[in-house]
Amino acid sequence: MSATVLIVDDEKNIRRTLHMVLDGAGFNVLEAGTAEEGLTLLSQNEVDLAILDVRLPGISGVDALQKIRARPETAKLPVLMISGHASVAEAVNAVQLGATDFFEKPLDRDRVLVSVRNALRTSQLQREVELLRADAEDRYAMIGQSAVMKKLYSELEKVAPTKGRVLITGESGTGKELIARAIHVLSPRKDAPFVKVNCAAIPAELIESELFGYERGAFTGAQNRKKGMFELANNGTLFLDEIGDMSMNAQAKVLRALQSGEITRVGSESAIAVDVRVLAATNRDLEAAVATGQFREDLYFRLNVVPIRSPSLRERRDDIATLAESFARGFCTENGMREKKFDEEVLHALTERAWPGNVRELRNVVERMVILSGDVVTLDDVPEDGRILEPRSASTTAADAEELTHGTDPERLSLREFRERAERDYIRTTLESCEWNISKAAGLLGVERTNLHKKMRSYGIKR
Ligand SMILES: Nc1ncnc2c1ncn2[C@@H]1O[C@H](COP(=O)(O)OP(=O)(O)OP(=O)(O)O)[C@@H](O)[C@H]1O
Ligand SMILES: [Mg+2]
Repeated sequence: MSATVLIVDDEKNIRRTLHMVLDGAGFNVLEAGTAEEGLTLLSQNEVDLAILDVRLPGISGVDALQKIRARPETAKLPVLMISGHASVAEAVNAVQLGATDFFEKPLDRDRVLVSVRNALRTSQLQREVELLRADAEDRYAMIGQSAVMKKLYSELEKVAPTKGRVLITGESGTGKELIARAIHVLSPRKDAPFVKVNCAAIPAELIESELFGYERGAFTGAQNRKKGMFELANNGTLFLDEIGDMSMNAQAKVLRALQSGEITRVGSESAIAVDVRVLAATNRDLEAAVATGQFREDLYFRLNVVPIRSPSLRERRDDIATLAESFARGFCTENGMREKKFDEEVLHALTERAWPGNVRELRNVVERMVILSGDVVTLDDVPEDGRILEPRSASTTAADAEELTHGTDPERLSLREFRERAERDYIRTTLESCEWNISKAAGLLGVERTNLHKKMRSYGIKR
């Protein structure tokens, strides 16, 4: 479908020339001789772009532009201004007032067409971005109107507009990541990046370069300089997920960045200031980790300015039916299936379960029921309680690692390599936290001393 362009000019000749040029390029054209007439045509027709003469009898072109911007239906309409020799300054002024572009008389055919096409393309892209953004915001919308969720929403509304650091705690699968994204979307930083770092999935040797980036030649393999997550999140939000799994070494570096508001790329001499809002999440008891020396107390206090607790599903059983129905609707749409309903008994059974894996487990159970059931989901389709539990299994962690490695590091790790790195790392931090007392570390790790010695040798871990 071709776009419709409205021309508003009091000079008949100009209107005729523009009409010919635009018509020849396949546009629909509307004409008006005065701003009043033009504004009327705008409210009666679907217009994609307007071309306004700066100087018009009665309401001037510039005033008309302001009226167009003030009406919600036309606030985003691309408007091009035409100026005579004497009115260039007014045209420039019009651009400051929101005109998309201007061109001078005498009109140049190609210049007009380039301007019109660019303006239409830009406005089309803007619309697409808005739609995508609205869609993304929808996906991060949280479901649930139970008392605990209402309390959570009011906390989110208070904290989101600030720059306050938030530590999100709660059991696995309760929606901590969703909360972090919601804080970002509700904040003035929403148009800047939201960068997630899965601290548990990055091996200790990589974490510094992942977080702070590196300069070309900083280490073997550093062919080009690379920005780290802190820099990528500049002006936006950095989400440190699974912060409880970060090594002591990495904790020290993050602490320094938070204290100074500056980061230094690996292999660089100079610090770069970054404006980043930091959110962190964990399903561990960080206070206990602080008590046993596995998490730095100073970092804990820096991160935990505003604590937010993500409630378990057991604390909000009222929401289970709504969540289940909404997940079912989503899966059916995604898979092009007719919508499946749950009968009352099913909803009741779901509401009564223990849900140790929280919303994530509910989602998995619902997906499975929708796939395996007939037209209506009945009690027979409900899996036995505890059958599809999904605690933080190797597969979730591996999936997270895959997402991360894929997006940020060309080096692919096999699952085995990943597991070994994680193991080596964990052994090292545990040893560090016990000041290299082997018996104590072996106790914490739940392995025999001889076994720990063997692992240390095979991983080359030395004090
Ligand atoms: N209130 C909610 N409304 C809709 N979906 C939710 C809600 N809470 C969680 N979910 C969904 O449940 C799943 C798990 O959520 P999320 O990944 O945020 O949990 P988490 O607390 O970060 O878990 P983990 O500690 O295991 O990382 C996601 O698919 C998420 O979209
Ligand atoms: Mg998570």
